[in-house]
Amino acid sequence: MRRGSTATTIAALALAATAAPAMAADTVGSPGAGDPFFPLAGNGGIDVTNYSLDLAYQPASHQLSGTATLQIHATQDLSRFDLDLRGFDVGTVTVNGVEASVARDGQELMITPSHAVRTGDAFTVVVPYAGQPQTVIDPDGSSEGWVYTSDGAAVVGEPQGSPAWYPANDTPRDKATFTVSMTVPSGLTAVGNGSLQSQTTVNGVTTFTWRESYPMAPYLATITLGRFDVTTGTTPSGIPTYIAVDPRQASSASAVLRKLPAMVSFLENLYGSYPFETVGAIVDDAPQLGYSLETQTKPVFDDAPDEVTLLHELSHMWFGDAVTLGSWPDIWLHEGFATWSEWIWTEQQGGKSAAQRFKQLANTPAQQTSFWNPPPGDPGDAQHLFDGTIYQRGAMTLEALRERIGDAQFTDLLRTWYAENRYGTVTTADFVALAERVSGQDLRQFFDEWLYQPGKPSSLLDGSAATTPVG
Ligand code: TRP
Ligand code: ZN
Repeated sequence: MRRGSTATTIAALALAATAAPAMAADTVGSPGAGDPFFPLAGNGGIDVTNYSLDLAYQPASHQLSGTATLQIHATQDLSRFDLDLRGFDVGTVTVNGVEASVARDGQELMITPSHAVRTGDAFTVVVPYAGQPQTVIDPDGSSEGWVYTSDGAAVVGEPQGSPAWYPANDTPRDKATFTVSMTVPSGLTAVGNGSLQSQTTVNGVTTFTWRESYPMAPYLATITLGRFDVTTGTTPSGIPTYIAVDPRQASSASAVLRKLPAMVSFLENLYGSYPFETVGAIVDDAPQLGYSLETQTKPVFDDAPDEVTLLHELSHMWFGDAVTLGSWPDIWLHEGFATWSEWIWTEQQGGKSAAQRFKQLANTPAQQTSFWNPPPGDPGDAQHLFDGTIYQRGAMTLEALRERIGDAQFTDLLRTWYAENRYGTVTTADFVALAERVSGQDLRQFFDEWLYQPGKPSSLLDGSAATTPVG
C-alpha cells in the first residue's frame, strides 16, 4: 500500500466509503475549543443556538435531574461531537429524535449520532441527566459550578463551572439564548438569567421558568436557588428589575441595593444603553463561594455587597457579558474595565478621582513586584486569572490611556468598543486596533508596556529607578 499509486489510493478510499458509510475520523469534532488556559472547554464543530433546560432540584438529597435540549448548528461535518458535562448519570441521548451512542471521558460527553451530521445542518440534541452536582475547584483554589449553601446553591460558572449543572459548549465564543425551568420545593426560589416567564406551585413544588433572549456565554448562566425575598421594579430608563435577597443578608444589603437603578443609569450614560432586557441582583448567603460573579442580567453575590462591588458587577453587563473575551488570557478586558468603572463611580459620587487613584497606585515601588506582576494582558496561567494586577493594573492601563489620548477620545473609544462589539466576543488586539483608529496614534508600545511587560511600566519609573533592575 505504501507504494500504491494515487489512483489506487482513491479507489481504496471510494471502496471504504461504500463499505462503511460512516465518515472519516477527521469529522470527529475536537474535544476542546482551543483555549490556552482551558483546552478541553468548549468543543469543535458545533455552534449552540439555544439551550432549553428542564430541571428539578431537591436540596435535602442534593439531587438535580432533568433534560437539556440543545439546538445546534454544525460548523463542520460531524461523525461525532462532544459537549462538556461534569458528573451525572446520563440517560438516552437523542439527535433529531433518534437514539445516539454516548461515551464519557472526564468533562467530555461524546455523542455519536446514528446519522452523521453535515456542515450547516441544524440539529437537536436531548440529554436526560441526574445526579449530585459538583463543586468545581479552579486552579486558583476558588469554588465554582454548584456551590452548596445551607438552603440550596449559588450557581456560577466562571471560568469552567457550567458543565457542573448542564451539558454545555463551554466556550465564551459560543453565545446562545437560554430557557431554564427549575422545580424546587415550595418556599424556595430559583433565580435565573433574563425574565421570569412563569412561576407555578403544584403539590408542594414550585416551577420557575426563566428566559434569556439575548446571546449569553455559557459561563454566565445561573439558576441560584434557596430562600429569597424578591423585589421588582424598573430603572429610570425602563428596564425591569428583579432583586432576590437571602433574608439573612437583607438588612445589610438594602441600602446598597436601593442604588442599583441609579447605577444602571450611570453606566448607561457612560457607555451606552443597557444591553439586556432585565437587570437585578441575587444576594445569597454563600460562605463557600467567597466572591461575586456577573451572571448575565443578575449578578450573584456571596453576601451583601458594598457599593463598589455592586457597581463592579453591574458594569460587567457592558464589559464581560455583552462584550466578552474570546479566550481567558484576555480577562483584563473584563476586570480592568470593571475596576475602572468603580473608580469613575467613586469620582462621580464626590470621592477620590480616577486620576488621583492612578497617581497613588503609580507610586507603588517597582520592588513591590506582586503589585506589578503578572502583567494584565498575560496572566501566564489559569492560577493567576484573577490576580490583583488583572484588576488594578488593568484599570491603570485604561486610565493611562485616557491621559494619553484625552478624555473625549477615550470616552468615544469605550462607547464605540461597546457599540461595535456587544453580543459578540473580542480580543485585546481588537481593542488596541480600535484605540489606534479612534485616536489616530500608534499605541503599540504603550499597550505592550502596560499589558505585556512584567514589572513596573518603564514610563512610570524615575531616572534612578529605571536603572535599577526590576526584581
Ligand atoms: N469575575 C469575578 C469578578 O467580578 C471574579 C471571579 C470569578 C473571581 N471567579 C473568581 C475572583 C475566583 C476570585 C476568584 O471580579
Ligand atoms: Zn469583575
